[in-house]
Amino acid sequence: MKIKVTALENGPYLVPTGGKYTYNGEEKEGKQVALCRCGHSKNKPFCDGAHKDAGFTAPAAEIEIEVE
Ligand code: FES
Repeated sequence: MKIKVTALENGPYLVPTGGKYTYNGEEKEGKQVALCRCGHSKNKPFCDGAHKDAGFTAPAAEIEIEVE
C-alpha cells in the first residue's frame, strides 16, 4: 500500500487516513490529518492555521511512502 503525504505550499503536511486514525491511543475520525510543519501551531502535532499569521513559507511537495 502506498501513502501519499502532501506538503501544502506555505502550509501543513496532509496525511490521508482512510477515514479513521488513532491519536495517543484515542480513536478519531477524519479522512486526513493536517500536521504542522511551521512550528507555530498551538495544537501540535496538528496544524491550527497559525502558519498564515507566522508568514511561514515552504514549497509544495508530494511524498509517496510504500507501506507493507
Ligand atoms: S503548518 Fe499550519 S500551523 Fe504550522
